[in-house]
Amino acid sequence: MSEQPQIRFEDGAAYETYMGLWSRKVGEQFLDWLKPATNLSWLDVGAGNGAFTALLAERVKPASILGVDPSPAQLDYARKRQDVGQARFEAGHAMELPAADASVDAAVMALVIAFVPDPAKGVAEMVRVVKPGGLVSAYMWDWPQGFPFYAVEQVIEGRGLPVVAPPSHEASRIQKMVELWHGAGLVGVESRAITVERTFPDFDKFWAIALTGPRMSAQAAGLSPEMLATLRADLKALLGAEDGKPLMLKATANAVKGRVPG
Ligand SMILES: C[S@@+](CC[C@H](N)C(=O)[O-])C[C@H]1O[C@@H](n2cnc3c(N)ncnc32)[C@H](O)[C@@H]1O
Repeated sequence: MSEQPQIRFEDGAAYETYMGLWSRKVGEQFLDWLKPATNLSWLDVGAGNGAFTALLAERVKPASILGVDPSPAQLDYARKRQDVGQARFEAGHAMELPAADASVDAAVMALVIAFVPDPAKGVAEMVRVVKPGGLVSAYMWDWPQGFPFYAVEQVIEGRGLPVVAPPSHEASRIQKMVELWHGAGLVGVESRAITVERTFPDFDKFWAIALTGPRMSAQAAGLSPEMLATLRADLKALLGAEDGKPLMLKATANAVKGRVPG
């Protein structure tokens, strides 16, 4: 049996343009909704290249931030960022967080929960490391329709090519997130959808960025120039894009928050 292709995050700079800018747009509204106190110690789980970490550093006046991620390439980019304040970054996994019990005030997963092999275990880990009364929160694209590059997935599927979904994509549904938060014993659980939009200078720019995504960059390498040209034409038609005209796309993420009892 052939192995299911995996989504790998191996280029922090490409990630910034491809997804970091989208994450930041959701993150702005997410933090407005979360309304965290200032001076908290934060654990940013799956911090990646630091896109959301930078927003935390700018917006919430944190006492400290520890970003954890398994990808060396993402961490390398995050550590070189100028906009993450005093944030520290460590290699680590959501299923076994490198933090002591009840050691931080807030833990967050920004666009991560669908990549965690066992989301319930990932949430339980956040609950373990957050102090009583502390915040546990997350946001994730509402897979598949909410994903910013959903149209790309549609044309790939339309040509009979494999679409690679995040391994735990069911955890991106709002009902599932709420279930996970209740299941982990969190209290005061609330959820909401967040829709954002991003305008690309034109279709060509959008296509170039789409090709740098973690799944497309791997997949495109195995496609003929003819198939790539077909996908490009399919996508342009699906989006109704016009040459040289700005292209606006929308995306929707689900967000959830709760507090550790006590
Ligand atoms: C879509 S990116 C989100 C990055 C960043 N939080 C943001 O908002 O842009 C998903 C990140 O989750 C990380 N990741 C994948 N599996 C993980 C796991 N089991 N535990 C923690 N992080 C994981 C990836 O390396 C990647 O950096």
